[in-house]
Amino acid sequence: MYLNRRRFLAAGSVALGALTRLPAATTGSKLNAVKSPLSTSEPPTPLDAITHYNNFYEFGTDKEDPSKNAYKLRTSPWSVKVEGAVAKPRVLDLDAIFKIAPLEERIYRHRCVEAWSMVIPWVGFPLNALLKMVEPTSKAKYVTFESYYDSKTMLGSFEAGIRFPYVEGLRMDEAMHPLALLAVGLYGENLPNQDGAPFRLVVPWKYGFKSIKSIVKIRFVEKEPPTTWSVQVPQWYGFYSNVNPDVNPVRWDQSKERRIGEVFKRKSVIFNGYGDQVAGLYSGMDLRKYF
Ligand code: MTE
Repeated sequence: MYLNRRRFLAAGSVALGALTRLPAATTGSKLNAVKSPLSTSEPPTPLDAITHYNNFYEFGTDKEDPSKNAYKLRTSPWSVKVEGAVAKPRVLDLDAIFKIAPLEERIYRHRCVEAWSMVIPWVGFPLNALLKMVEPTSKAKYVTFESYYDSKTMLGSFEAGIRFPYVEGLRMDEAMHPLALLAVGLYGENLPNQDGAPFRLVVPWKYGFKSIKSIVKIRFVEKEPPTTWSVQVPQWYGFYSNVNPDVNPVRWDQSKERRIGEVFKRKSVIFNGYGDQVAGLYSGMDLRKYF
């Protein structure tokens, strides 16, 4: 998430490229999904931009790198360990994951801490369906997530500038919130590798780095867990990382954002515009302290 001139220019070229190029990414088989009332009616960002302007440091730190390198990710077979403070720990394969709950199309705004945004038509199911299935115990106060990591096919931590495996976490009530999604697809098809195949977290009211990709472990814990970026640069990235135009610990001005495909910046909105649904999770909390 180190902004450089090249990256800034790349944002512009994706914006133009998305309009002029044919969609290049084929994302696999069609998924049956019902439309969700939780979707935004804003127009989705073109598939080409969603699949060629990515942050997936395991496959490179430039925005185009994941689209070039993520073919190395083998997504089948895949298994996810669900463990920790739960009555029913499980190891789930992809078949089991797809059967947890009916798939929904959820069109969400996606806001990166680098001050760009997209609108993505995800396909997935509420994270809370998986959480309920394993029956968290009273000790489960937080949920942690870990991404797949393979040093042979992915960047080393030194080259990427962050520690691997990538880890993230949510407070239990955040994880149970109906907007928190486990995505298995986008634009009606399986997730492209560069977008976090075979399944990833999507937390639309938080900065994009909370939405961890290619998950292999979910663990329920009692204490607030370390997360990749908050360990890396604690003065910039907090555990909560809710989109907040009034709090600017990071070098990027968070008051505005550039929607990929648009020329002019737009004003950013607290909780990325999902405040009506999620503000209650943080009532009484000082959002400057808990950024
Ligand atoms: N997950 C992993 N494992 N590795 C990463 O580098 N980048 C994060 C998040 N999840 C990242 C990750 C960041 S910074 C953002 S903005 C989003 O993924 C980007 O998702 P997208 O490439 O699908 O837009």
